[in-house]
Amino acid sequence: MPKRAMITGITGQDGSFLAELLLQKGYEVFGVIRRSSSFNTGRIDHLYQDRHEPGTRLRMLYGDLNDSSSLNKILRQVEPDEIYNLGAQSHVRVSFDIPEYTAEVTGLGTVRLLEAIRDVGIRPRFYQASSSELYGKAVQTPQTEKTPFNPRSPYACAKAYAYYITVNYRESYGLFACNGILFNHESERRGETFVTRKITRAATRIKCGLLKKLYLGNLDARRDWGHAADYVEAMWLMMQAEIPDDYVIATGESHSVREFLDAAFGYLKLDWREHVEIDPHYFRPAEVDLLRGDADKARRVLRWKPKVDFEGLVRRMVDHDIKLAEQERAVAQHRKPIEIAA
Ligand code: NAP
Ligand code: GDD
Repeated sequence: MPKRAMITGITGQDGSFLAELLLQKGYEVFGVIRRSSSFNTGRIDHLYQDRHEPGTRLRMLYGDLNDSSSLNKILRQVEPDEIYNLGAQSHVRVSFDIPEYTAEVTGLGTVRLLEAIRDVGIRPRFYQASSSELYGKAVQTPQTEKTPFNPRSPYACAKAYAYYITVNYRESYGLFACNGILFNHESERRGETFVTRKITRAATRIKCGLLKKLYLGNLDARRDWGHAADYVEAMWLMMQAEIPDDYVIATGESHSVREFLDAAFGYLKLDWREHVEIDPHYFRPAEVDLLRGDADKARRVLRWKPKVDFEGLVRRMVDHDIKLAEQERAVAQHRKPIEIAA
């Protein structure tokens, strides 16, 4: 019998890479998706094309982390061996605008899912998508599993609750539950409002003559950026370990937003200083200045290490986005003026 995995947040960046990985490993994958008025499955459509074929191993079920009854129903129906809780309102800047909603989904959503596991009476392994944002105004660099948390946003506060409730269910009920404390990870599937993808989308559009200016916030913030495909592998490894535990997943290198601009625009032979303007709208009420992780424990225990480095990450994203920009340019050039009937 193939193992069954359930993924919340399957339509997101990480969910799509994780679904791909688990299908390759022979799992049956059940994704929880939200009803949306527009299509939200673009990142997984390539995995889902044969959904009408007998024997398809990827299924989608409607549910929401804000809706306990849907979580109960799905768990009863699927009885998964592994649950990956990746669903979240995951944008830090936006969490300042919608703090209560962020707490509901990103914080309480986790306990809803954990309680549904107890209600249904199953014993799956549980992965919680914890975040380096927990370190916030970091009291020590590099950050390890032992570094105290110091959250700086409603998002990070919600993730702190989710982190501790996951530990609590492990200790109280003996659930195989682990936290992956993942540092920033990006890809060609990254949401376009996160800074790396915002930069690679804009730089490639500028290169193709489709855009003139890119508006950004704080260029001095430093992040430890890896590639999402490497990071979902770490999630899976954590779930195969003998003992449930919490792990930092990071590259160990940090770069500023300015350095990301240098790398992306430089690769396209452009000078970002001619195209970037600062818009205070993108400043945050409280900023996280420096994140750099030490993944020594994951290296030792899980034998995990990242394959894609900073330069490789930037190039992959730019190579992907230049093709999108070229397609956009071709469409724009062939678009006929609309004729309005008199
Ligand atoms: P993402 O691209 O923003 O995806 C978030 C996913 O959560 C989407 O599938 C979204 O569905 C879903 N979602 C949102 N609200 C939900 C709700 N109420 N109920 C059920 N699902 C809901 O995020 P990501 O980058 O893949 O990150 C995955 C997880 O890792 C998140 O929990 C994030 O906070 C955490 N994390 C990310 C990073 C990183 O650098 N990427 C680092 C550390 C931790 P829709 O498509 O319908 O919006
Ligand atoms: N989004 C965005 N947009 N960020 C900007 C901009 C801009 O125009 N200009 C500068 N920045 C700076 C932000 O102030 C922040 O310091 C940094 O770029 C990174 O911002 P994001 O890419 O939005 O990511 P994040 O670090 O806040 O959060 C991401 O990583 C966390 C892990 O540390 C998200 O994926 C979170 O879900 C994740 O937990």
